Amino acid sequence: VIVPVILSGGSGTRLWPMSRPEMPKQLLPLTADETMLQLTAQRADGPGYDAPIVVASARHAEMVEDQLAAVGATPQALVLEPMGRNTAPAIALAALAAPLPDAPLLVMPSDHVIADVDAFRTAIDAALPMVEEGWLVTFGIAPDAPETGYGWIRIGDEIAAGVHRVNRFIEKPPLDRAQAMLDEGSHAWNGGIFLFRADRYLEVLEREVPAMVAAARESMAKAKREGTRIWPDADAFAASPSDSIDYAVMEKASRVAVVPVAMGWSDVGSWDALHAISERDAAGNAHDADRVLAIDTTGCLVRSDGIRVSLVGVSDLIVVASGNDVLILPRGRSQEVKKLIEAMKEKG
Ligand code: GDD
Ligand code: MG
Repeated sequence: VIVPVILSGGSGTRLWPMSRPEMPKQLLPLTADETMLQLTAQRADGPGYDAPIVVASARHAEMVEDQLAAVGATPQALVLEPMGRNTAPAIALAALAAPLPDAPLLVMPSDHVIADVDAFRTAIDAALPMVEEGWLVTFGIAPDAPETGYGWIRIGDEIAAGVHRVNRFIEKPPLDRAQAMLDEGSHAWNGGIFLFRADRYLEVLEREVPAMVAAARESMAKAKREGTRIWPDADAFAASPSDSIDYAVMEKASRVAVVPVAMGWSDVGSWDALHAISERDAAGNAHDADRVLAIDTTGCLVRSDGIRVSLVGVSDLIVVASGNDVLILPRGRSQEVKKLIEAMKEKG
């Protein structure tokens, strides 16, 4: 059976003010009644799937546990990181917590949307035989923009039905390179979801960044355990180099494959992305009717987690109210929320 591994460690600053360090994106109900973490758990549940291994920041332990329990998804292990060391070490902890050394791990970010879960499951089924043979598999999304925040995959020959060799994996390319790959065709975005055997992952990581595997092993050997909760030893884990799976493993490994799949994927990386995937009324507004009143308003995304927000005669705005903060900006500029966060840090 496949062991889902859910990564819930990011802070998602681009969706400020709703997403904050104490309440990151994946723990918010951004696209449905369920939170993104809950949707992720539900996506990999049922026959053929084991209970998930969840790797999260120790500070969110209670929230993560409560949210999973609320949808009946009890993790077999909840690994609570003392600090963030990015995805490569987080996945190493999960691989070491796997019930069998050669268990197939389905590694999923907890902050993505997949509209077509059937297509996702079909892609996983296609990949599984190659995974059992030792391939590292990723899922490819058809690119429609020269995105520099994604990994890019040069799609090679078909090695099994629906499964292609990865000729090249390029994490976060510069704009000119991304544009060239988009123009050339036969490239996919890396969806950030991976399927591989735990032992194969550790083997590649051991070869590329031995200090990372050593730190993960030591922190797990000295971990504090209580029920399904695991606290890796903080000093041992702190010694790990920090890197993402994309740079540390996927760019370097051999026998990497991709399953191109159209599954309504979005990583909801900005307020604009959320507007694009949200249900909209006839005037193109996406808002929650309980708290928002909009008259003669078009093309706006309006979200509030408390106060009532009212608009008259405006177009193409993003308006987000959360706690004591209100964010207003024109649609199309939501990447600049990053600048706000930096400016706020400087002001203290
Ligand atoms: N447990 C844990 N610990 N989880 C983490 C950590 C960590 O230290 N750092 C990040 N994560 C989680 C995030 O919450 C997110 O769900 C996932 O791992 C991916 O991390 P991101 O930081 O969001 O990565 P990215 O968006 O820059 O890039 C990745 O995703 C893209 C698609 O969205 C890469 O895989 C790209 O190649 C890919 O295109
Ligand atoms: Mg991301």
